[in-house]
Amino acid sequence: SAIYLKDYTVPDFLIDKTELTFELEEANVLVTSRLHMRRNALSSDKVASLVLDGGDEMKLIGVAIDNVSLSADEYQITNQSLEIFSAPNEFVLTCETLVEPQNNTRLEGLYRSSSMFCTQCEAEGFRHITYYLDRPDVMSVFTTTIIGDEEKYPVMLSNGNEVERGKTEDGKTVVTWHDPFKKPAYLFALVAGNLAVQDDVFKTKSGRVVTLRIFTEHHNLEKVDYAMGALKRSMKWDEDVYGREYDLDIFMVVAVDDFNMGAMENKGLNIFNSSCLLASPETTTDDAYLRIEAIVAHEYFHNWSGNRVTCRDWFQLSLKEGFTVFRDQTFSSDMHSETVKRVEDVSFLRTAQFAEDAGPMAHPVRPESFIEISNFYTLTVYEKGSEIVRMIYTLLGEQAFRKGSDLYFDRHDGQAVTCDDFVAAMEDASGVDLSQFKRWYSQAGTPELLFESKYSVTDKTLKLVVKQTTPPTPGQESKLPLHIPIKLGLISKDGNELESTYSGETAQEHVLHLKSEEATFEFSGVDSEPVPSILRGFSAPVKYEYAYSTEELLLLMSSDSDGFNRWNAAQQLAVRELKSLIHQIKNGEPLADQSDLVKGFKSLLLNEELDPAMVALILELPSQAYLSELEKEIDPHAIHSALTHLTKVIANALKEEFSATYMNNVESTVYEPNAIQIAKRALKNIALHYWVESDDVTALESLNEQFSNSDNMTDQYAALSIAVEAGVEKADVMLATFYDQWLHESLVVNKWLTLSASQENVDGLKRVEELMSHPAFDIKNPNKVRAVLGGMGRSVQVFHKEDGSGYRYLADQIIYLNKRNPQLASRICTPLTRWKKYKSSLGDLMKLELERIQKEDLSKDVYEVITKSLNG
Ligand code: ARG
Ligand code: ZN
Repeated sequence: SAIYLKDYTVPDFLIDKTELTFELEEANVLVTSRLHMRRNALSSDKVASLVLDGGDEMKLIGVAIDNVSLSADEYQITNQSLEIFSAPNEFVLTCETLVEPQNNTRLEGLYRSSSMFCTQCEAEGFRHITYYLDRPDVMSVFTTTIIGDEEKYPVMLSNGNEVERGKTEDGKTVVTWHDPFKKPAYLFALVAGNLAVQDDVFKTKSGRVVTLRIFTEHHNLEKVDYAMGALKRSMKWDEDVYGREYDLDIFMVVAVDDFNMGAMENKGLNIFNSSCLLASPETTTDDAYLRIEAIVAHEYFHNWSGNRVTCRDWFQLSLKEGFTVFRDQTFSSDMHSETVKRVEDVSFLRTAQFAEDAGPMAHPVRPESFIEISNFYTLTVYEKGSEIVRMIYTLLGEQAFRKGSDLYFDRHDGQAVTCDDFVAAMEDASGVDLSQFKRWYSQAGTPELLFESKYSVTDKTLKLVVKQTTPPTPGQESKLPLHIPIKLGLISKDGNELESTYSGETAQEHVLHLKSEEATFEFSGVDSEPVPSILRGFSAPVKYEYAYSTEELLLLMSSDSDGFNRWNAAQQLAVRELKSLIHQIKNGEPLADQSDLVKGFKSLLLNEELDPAMVALILELPSQAYLSELEKEIDPHAIHSALTHLTKVIANALKEEFSATYMNNVESTVYEPNAIQIAKRALKNIALHYWVESDDVTALESLNEQFSNSDNMTDQYAALSIAVEAGVEKADVMLATFYDQWLHESLVVNKWLTLSASQENVDGLKRVEELMSHPAFDIKNPNKVRAVLGGMGRSVQVFHKEDGSGYRYLADQIIYLNKRNPQLASRICTPLTRWKKYKSSLGDLMKLELERIQKEDLSKDVYEVITKSLNG
């Protein structure tokens, strides 16, 4: 039941206009569609029957062509389609379906969240609302009429502009919305409920005034200011940086509690998971503020990269997602700090996307086949997809890239296109040949680069030899060489940037184009033996090796002009030490109680000139997840012990410095989520973390004080997490206090669920079970499920317990959710899919659980992930 990119054909029919009517009732909704259809002149089958997509949970009430009802022998319904055997060349198809949103636990199509109606149609949710040609290359002009009880649903929204409002004979409200831009059905949205609204305006650069409206449940209205500001910043930024103006008179955003993903870019009516929209200083951490700003921007930017220009088919998903992630990353970087943003994005990519690319679900950024498209909203499509766009930016330069994006939007406005079309626009506007580069879209796996250098004192030349390989991935045994941009600088042993001449150009920084399996790059005019600063700004999503000495890494860490590589040098040092500790633990050897990091960290802590955000980032040790990705065979307990040990070594060696840094960064000003304050809090809290891990018990007083008296969630939550992670005696009491304080704030309760479930404790599974039957838990709410199971997954002693009970528990939840919410069930499989990389005593237990799940009657979503994990 897999679908292949190579089988793509144009649709046999098109839908010029789509007229929808929704009659909202408590028990069901009657959906009437009038589709103005015609045969597609480009289709090779001139007599094709009309096959509409549609799920079997809909009840078909009636179907007619040009107002003549069809008789039972003129059509056929299967569990996923409605086939009409003979259709004229041009006609109006009328269809009436009855759906039951309150029983829709899958959260796709039309469903209820709290008391409201809402929709999620991407990728293939619209077919659960009515029969349709539910594919992105069928674009239509939508007019939507909603009929409902004014008391219950004072707010009734759909895409575009409100064009009519009135009453039915029985007193119901009728509202009609019209969206003048043609769009695929996945961008359709409907919301109805008793909602509060905040209004604002944005004046576009051409002088049009756009109404902005954010809708929430009444008790959340005071939490939308930040998102509103972020929206206005995004609108301005897209005008300034991409020349893209908003195109309707109104832009609406709605927050809903039950949502499978982060948010959705429906035309003119974005719908958000409330966790990605609502914010207040007391309830929201700095990280969450930044995430909200990024997601608001992401969904807004889709208006051009996704909506005005959309995807031809779902294999092209990265066309809109990779490009839009690149746009939101650049936006955040412009709003805050470029280096900090880059470090965070790369850290995430190297931890999670590299792991995906090395596992059984590895797939190219443009996949060749899938069973269930929902499984391909992946880190590879999003994050690696963004890296591809970033590399194009690096290869073309800012100006040519902008020309390319202008050409792309101009050429394809109103069309459904492919990744090849995107690259073609970039090539045509710049004259740069990207033909080999395009392999990045079709080849899965993380490339590995090996660098070696040779310096000649007599010639003052440096030769840099680079080899590239990409490991095999499922279905792709051998790989071709990629076109890889390598941004590079040279640092002298005394810490200065060296000039060099490469291919006729003299500069401190060069972009090398690696295209073959092996290449030698020669730099002349290099005054002294340099330390190469490789892949500055992480100019390509690859792994690389260069045999740096510890001294060289310390030099890069303190002197590289590239902020990203300063951080990366520190990471490499930390990874080396952790790897040797892991080795010592596995072999039962005594653990090193010294660390080269101490010296480097000390000078960071004492230097008050440095950006506190950078210092905080460098002080953070590589995560359990990143170290797992780097290991050949994962022993989670050994990795955890190594991290705990190194943390203690550093904490004890620098306890005075950490306590001083903590004290120096305690703020008394009113909380604001701005870059300067965020940086100071980050540094303060990582200092507190080490200080608490040291043997200085006075740290606990500061910890308590911060937990009890902070006026903002960032500091309170930091104190609580530190207490839980360090396993301080009062951690349980603090968790209980925290719950009592915040039990009425659902989003804060989610944070409590995560932390409670993540506690390291061999009997922790009991705790997890209690959480899942706690009154604050709700299995129908994806945020709560992810909070508990995500928290549990972080606890090595609970999730990776040697008796397999953690794996069994997760498998039980997957089986429970399999049919109820397939998208969610499939996502929470991820930790088990990595079974092959674990040491066999654990990996075998994970595999057993996958096999147990496989025996169930599986949804397509779970089936695909489980089968690929067992076979891949
Ligand atoms: N297009 C959305 C975004 O990236 C993601 C929605 C995907 N939803 C889903 N259920 N697969 O902003
Ligand atoms: Zn997106």
